[in-house]
Amino acid sequence: MAISAETLLQLDRDHLWHPYSSISEPLTVYPVRSASGATLTLEDGRQLVDGMSSWWSAIHGYNVPEINIALQKQLEQFSHVMFGGLTHRPAVELGRRLLDLTPVSLQHIFLADSGSIAVEVALKMALQYWIARGEGNKNRIATIRGGYHGDTFATMALADPDNGMHTMFRQLLTEPLFIPRPGCRFGESWDPATMEPLQQLFEESGESIAALILEPVVQGAGGVYFYHPEFLSQARILCDRFDVLLIADEIATGFGRTGKLFGCDHASITPDILCLGKALTGGAMTLAATITTSLIAETISSHDDGTLMHGPTFMGNPLACSAANASIDLLLSSPWRSRVQKIESGLRRGLAPCSKLSAVEEVRVLGAIGVVEMREAVNMGRVQPLFVEHGVWIRPFGRLIYLMPPFIITVDELERLTTAVVEVVRTIEQSQPVTAA
Ligand SMILES: Cc1ncc(COP(=O)(O)O)c(C=O)c1O
Repeated sequence: MAISAETLLQLDRDHLWHPYSSISEPLTVYPVRSASGATLTLEDGRQLVDGMSSWWSAIHGYNVPEINIALQKQLEQFSHVMFGGLTHRPAVELGRRLLDLTPVSLQHIFLADSGSIAVEVALKMALQYWIARGEGNKNRIATIRGGYHGDTFATMALADPDNGMHTMFRQLLTEPLFIPRPGCRFGESWDPATMEPLQQLFEESGESIAALILEPVVQGAGGVYFYHPEFLSQARILCDRFDVLLIADEIATGFGRTGKLFGCDHASITPDILCLGKALTGGAMTLAATITTSLIAETISSHDDGTLMHGPTFMGNPLACSAANASIDLLLSSPWRSRVQKIESGLRRGLAPCSKLSAVEEVRVLGAIGVVEMREAVNMGRVQPLFVEHGVWIRPFGRLIYLMPPFIITVDELERLTTAVVEVVRTIEQSQPVTAA
């Protein structure tokens, strides 16, 4: 017999960790019974319009027939086999699709099992590349403040040292070389002075830097900040000049979210190493990929210890690869560009009233991403239930209330999301206790 919703919640409260949660002061969690299109249905029958795409991933919404069919077909064959010494159609077909989608110089693909691992693999590729070239002293990683690349130890180190999520581990982490966030925003006129910190860093320390890692155009979980694409073009030039590899972490930006297929496309640049994840499977399964050039792959492989030192148990999981194949086909055969453009207009229109509110620092929109940055941190424990009362699923963090809906969202559903944001922000403004200290 299925357990009741109350028992389920009690067991959950007593025993399960949720992302970034406390066992002693758990925030309310909402049990989902089903999810379809852009709607989450809770156990008690309440329906919520999804504004999160399950953290950038569910670009086609939920319960997507094309992805379900692909999963079922693969399930009839096998759900998993080890990737060491074995291969299979779903992985190879995914490889072919990724080669078609990404710049021609990116030729070698590592199928990782989560975004954080894809970044770990990218860092290993960069370090192994320089070791193989006999330049093992090029072993520092440079990055931009305010970024986010994951929760494992190497990726935690890349988060902002002061405002990031992982400051408590600081003493255990290998400190990267930080440059400030590019001050020149997306849509502003380009200011060449934006490049000075990177140029200075490379001039002073380029000889010891293996790679620069960045999130192209949009810094995601570190602040949902949009910067000028020219920064990417110039960073590419500087990386070439100072012999530093460029790693583009497109785990959040990939697959259309910013209005281009990839963030790097805003500047028409090709990174040396590209990380993909999240929307790779349309959010149906966990899967990520790290893709690099023949030069890097062959250099690593030509060394005495020429193996790339990574191999997770669930590498290249066939179900996840099948979901990714179906998701990519669905994306490419859909009018995703015009959908994202319509979402962008809807977000601009719908969130505009927030910019007049005194509790709001700034409203910004790019592609299918809309952000209301508050002046003070939002008290999630109090604000989350307000959104649920409004019939929407929106999960703020810190000072940010942000929307990144599935691309298939309807005009009415999007309006429900933006209306809820405006109303909740008004409530916050009228009742200061709703904001956290
Ligand atoms: C840019 C970026 N890189 C890496 C990650 C880590 O991915 P995962 O949560 O799948 O480990 C995230 C997750 O939010 C991300 O946004």
